[in-house]
Amino acid sequence: MQTFVRPNVGAGAKTLDASCYISAEIFAAEQERIFGRDWLCVGREESLALTGDFFTVQRAGESLIVTRDAGGTVRAFFNVCRHRGTRICERDSGHFQGSIQCPYHGWTYGLDGALKVARNMVEVPGFDRTEYPLKEAAVALWEGFVFVALAPRARFDEAFAPLMGRFARWNVGGLTTARSVTYDVACNWKLIFLNYSECYHCPLVHPQLDKLSPSDSGRNDLSEGPFLGGYSEMRQAGTSLTMSGHSSRPPLGTVAGEELHRVYYYTIFPSFMLSTHPDYVMVHYVEPLAPNRTRVICSFLFDPQTMAEPGFDPSDVVEFWDVTNRQDWHVNELTQLGLSSRAYSPGPYSNAEGLLSAFDRHYRRVMEA
Ligand code: FES
Ligand SMILES: [Fe+2]
Repeated sequence: MQTFVRPNVGAGAKTLDASCYISAEIFAAEQERIFGRDWLCVGREESLALTGDFFTVQRAGESLIVTRDAGGTVRAFFNVCRHRGTRICERDSGHFQGSIQCPYHGWTYGLDGALKVARNMVEVPGFDRTEYPLKEAAVALWEGFVFVALAPRARFDEAFAPLMGRFARWNVGGLTTARSVTYDVACNWKLIFLNYSECYHCPLVHPQLDKLSPSDSGRNDLSEGPFLGGYSEMRQAGTSLTMSGHSSRPPLGTVAGEELHRVYYYTIFPSFMLSTHPDYVMVHYVEPLAPNRTRVICSFLFDPQTMAEPGFDPSDVVEFWDVTNRQDWHVNELTQLGLSSRAYSPGPYSNAEGLLSAFDRHYRRVMEA
């Protein structure tokens, strides 16, 4: 049973020190302690429909090749040849014809990572090709999303226990990405998460969102730990967060009752934000590039049956959130500018910012672990 409560904050809770947002040393430590150990969401399984389909991702200073092998298993290989270390695959995505070949001397690996062909090596005394498979990161599949972990602290099902089954009513695992928009935002990755976790800014920054969904309607059910969030209400039943405020799309899955006028927002530390709407799902993939630079990919998922209907057009949703996202990025970039000033010192969180204080607590815990 989920229990939802009004946002709240403990007395004396303040924002983090400036160094957490601007220091290259802290950024490097985060890459090691957070992005090198946590489960990171890197895309959708639907991108790997066929054996040999692949995409590459960069995380924690590593390049990974994510592909589906002949047995149907999704694997994530370090993009590093076992011969002399060469980066094997330079493309963002594509299809391997049954094997993965290094462009330098042609060592060739199976889709399961095993080294199959290494020219002129059989004569080398003591060489055993079974000792040189591609190295692998851990992979987990959840609700159609692909997660990778370089050196996981915990098993995926243990780490994600609080979220298991939570999104079944929206059938998130069966949805398809209709559109994705990529943003390069000039701020620290944590500001993106913090901004997502409060609607204190909504009346000023998002007048069009505030008109459809009141900023004080938020209620939270996950308010401590790596996963934080809850719902906001629509002012009127039957409306949707789109440019027109309406949608002709049917509700997803088995969504009914009060969920027809609620939008749920969750932050999934440290790589991902998931929002379920009655008729679509929006996700943000967050990739830190530098202390003051973050790539965010915002994707919109719909029911494949709805998408197959003539005239399906997700533009009303994509445009609404493109406007909203850009409003957010703008204020996040302004915050980043102020954080590097000598005038900045940690400021007090409001009662509408309890989740931000919880985010900071979780951040401190993992950085100190
Ligand atoms: S470095 Fe890959 S085959 Fe030589
Ligand atoms: Fe916002």
